[in-house]
Amino acid sequence: MKVELDLTRVSTFISQDEIYDSIEKHRELIKKVLKASTEDQDNLGWVNLSSVANEQLIIEIKEKADEIREKADVFVLIGVGGSNQGARAVIESMGDNNVEIIYAGNNLSPQSINRIISKLSDKSVYVNVIAKNFSTLEPGITFRVLRNYLEQRYGATGAAKRIIATASLNNSSLEILGKEKGYTLLPFPMDVGGRFSVLSSVGLLPIAVAGIDIDDLLKGAKDIKEEIQSRKPENNSAVLYGVIRNILLQKGYNLEILAFFEPLLSYFSKWWVQLFGESEGKDGKGIYPTACSFTEDLHSLGQYIQEGQRMLFETFINLENPGAFYKIPHEETDSDGFQYIDSQDFTFLNKTAYNATLKAHTEGGVPCLVLNIPELSSYYMGQLFYFFQYACYISASLLGVNPFNQPGVEAYKNVMFSALKSVKYKSENDS
Ligand code: PA5
Repeated sequence: MKVELDLTRVSTFISQDEIYDSIEKHRELIKKVLKASTEDQDNLGWVNLSSVANEQLIIEIKEKADEIREKADVFVLIGVGGSNQGARAVIESMGDNNVEIIYAGNNLSPQSINRIISKLSDKSVYVNVIAKNFSTLEPGITFRVLRNYLEQRYGATGAAKRIIATASLNNSSLEILGKEKGYTLLPFPMDVGGRFSVLSSVGLLPIAVAGIDIDDLLKGAKDIKEEIQSRKPENNSAVLYGVIRNILLQKGYNLEILAFFEPLLSYFSKWWVQLFGESEGKDGKGIYPTACSFTEDLHSLGQYIQEGQRMLFETFINLENPGAFYKIPHEETDSDGFQYIDSQDFTFLNKTAYNATLKAHTEGGVPCLVLNIPELSSYYMGQLFYFFQYACYISASLLGVNPFNQPGVEAYKNVMFSALKSVKYKSENDS
């Protein structure tokens, strides 16, 4: 089975004719995107799964992950944005906690760095620093802290054995540092951007350290790849998702909520928000992506979704089999007022809440797309990642923006770097 888009609840907002007209209008572009033959060749490495994770590399990753699982109590994953969000999405939803995984290098908070360091004492520590472009401040400076810490604890040689650097192997500063110090080096594929990198060594090592089957993950991605690249546009969930998002945007629906009834998907939704936000939000265009974990967020944003400005739509991830049961205890008397669900299962409650939300939101004027996934497993996570990456490529191409750059991220960096550098030069001149 495959992840599949269900359009039943958008039909009152968009007609079949509108969808077919849009496909017809963009047929040539869609064809090119499905063949991955657009001008973006330098950024399309992720399309061909075996080129970013070949058999030899997968063996190397598994061996390293086994060593870490055997020897480490704590695995510190240093990275920001696309360099850590994909791995975190899978680990937080199905990791086995055999090794404690600590995320670092994704902020500049002094509280965070202190807390991270304080968690390491008396524990066996391994570090994986991941950066495509090692000039990003958060991971770069956090790695300086961590390698100093490891060198003090284990000596230079001992520390080097515990550090894995996932770096661009084109003489990047991280590669050079890694070679000088003797770290294990893994490739950050040159033709893959951070937010499209989860199925390369960027995501695969940390995911394997968390005890998750990376073969299954890659198999899921490979199966959905074949589906996406072979199906006709009219019958292709990834194309339909891209087409419908663009039609909705033209109709004034400029905010999309990824909604789910399984909180274990919270970090997956962060990955999704980054994927679509950084890929489409440019040139004054794009849908603003955000996420809701239901039922919790029905008690906060639920009010706005039901009755606020009619400019948003939802994409629900529907986990068909939640993979868990819990029966409500039977009580003879109705002392708490919940006797009407006595002895029912939480699965039934959550499904009922999901169906009720879909109905209420649609009737309240919110177009709702549904992406059905059979269960939460590494195989289907692989499908979900690849599905959304491809759908994002299609959607951004239809929108007319470059999905693979993020020029806007530089604006704050430029101001920050010149402010930080001016402090150093000022103090040198003062002394
Ligand atoms: O998707 C992207 O390209 C970005 O989010 C990057 O992953 C993020 O900015 C981190 O970049 P780097 O790995 O170069 O530090």
